[in-house]
Amino acid sequence: MQKNIKISRQEYSDRRRRLMDLVGNDSIIIIPSADVKVRNRDADFAFRQDSDFLYLTGFNEPQSVAVLIPGLEAEFILFCREKDPQTELWTGRMAGLKGAVDDYDAEDAYPLDDIDEILPSLMQNRKKVYYSIGHNTGFDLQVIAWVNSLRVKVRKGIQAPHEFILLDKYLHEMRLFKSPVEQELMRHAAKVSISAHEKAMRVCQPELMEYEIDAEYLYTFRKHGMEPAYTSIVGGGENACILHYIDNNATLKDGDLLLIDAGAENQAYASDITRTFPVNGRFSEAQRQLYQIVLDAQYAAIEQSQPGNNWDDPHQAAVRVIATGLIELGLLEGDLEEIIKEEKYKPFYMHKTGHWLGLDVHDVGDYKLNGEWRKLEAGMVLTVEPGIYVSPDKNIDEKWWNIGIRIEDDVLITENGNEVITDGLVKEIDDIEALMQSES
Ligand code: GLY
Ligand code: MN
Ligand code: MN
Repeated sequence: MQKNIKISRQEYSDRRRRLMDLVGNDSIIIIPSADVKVRNRDADFAFRQDSDFLYLTGFNEPQSVAVLIPGLEAEFILFCREKDPQTELWTGRMAGLKGAVDDYDAEDAYPLDDIDEILPSLMQNRKKVYYSIGHNTGFDLQVIAWVNSLRVKVRKGIQAPHEFILLDKYLHEMRLFKSPVEQELMRHAAKVSISAHEKAMRVCQPELMEYEIDAEYLYTFRKHGMEPAYTSIVGGGENACILHYIDNNATLKDGDLLLIDAGAENQAYASDITRTFPVNGRFSEAQRQLYQIVLDAQYAAIEQSQPGNNWDDPHQAAVRVIATGLIELGLLEGDLEEIIKEEKYKPFYMHKTGHWLGLDVHDVGDYKLNGEWRKLEAGMVLTVEPGIYVSPDKNIDEKWWNIGIRIEDDVLITENGNEVITDGLVKEIDDIEALMQSES
């Protein structure tokens, strides 16, 4: 496996500079970190930093707030936890104020406890406050309190900000375009995910439990210093038809398909891969027929994932192939154009063909601009994940029942086309069957 890389301090600094240039000198930007979340009683979930905060700071601690004040001498200020040997003894190392400055390039750092005293003065005479309004009620109230504390001083000639603007407008647009280093981190996440999917295909056999397959993913991800980008979906037979199935606790049955949607997260950058394969290593005729439609739909959608095409073009291509295939197999009846227009394929294909991928598995970024599907551009990463799911229905031939298939890859839009960054993983029927016969 290739060497993992890291985002440089320069890149973080460039991101802050760019955002500050976009909002202008009459603005202040406030970004709180994520909180530690209680799992139960005294046990916490593993800490996962807020993606916006991480994108701008690289700082991986809770109880922190980043403030950007373009044009001031200290433009980047971090409020964070003070270094405390007792806390470090119990919960681990912390950067402290000195570390925030020395290692994360904050131009000033203050204890979080002092934020109510310091932040209002940083807001003085700024017209606009940029932050992610509505995500954290406690923080919303704090921001309003800071502004109110300035409002009462207007007679002293102090101006309070009078515009609150969603930070998403600029920041999420920046996050949508992945830098070369981000692309490399995502390729690396994809490689680790690929090796986990290969392992799963090799070890799979009837009578194993879904969680035994899940364990192969957890092992491979952790072995490479990564973690799941989302809870893995490991669904055999009818469970493959539950789109967000995460119980992963059923027995895998001979003759069923197994759908696995699992991806590693590398330094917070996600991969997102789905493969569907037969538990016993051989597709049945009915499974093969439906699988081939999904695969053809996926190729058609990837083909449409080109710079200059609309966000919706890959979905429309997938829908057309799936509707055509379902008509040919007798699962849908009627005119193709009417089936597409009236979305009559939706009982079998009820989700969209993809989403942006990045620091969040369903990554940020607008899908429409000015009411129109936006154009795909170089540097965007999206998933392409068509599927067919057949739930039991007395109007449908029983041979199709409980077949659930999704095939998902991660696609980077390039200047001249695209790069399927998860391309190394088999998905042709013959290739899957061959891999499942091979020794690990
Ligand atoms: N794994 C989540 C998704 O495919 O959207
Ligand atoms: Mn997925
Ligand atoms: Mn996905």
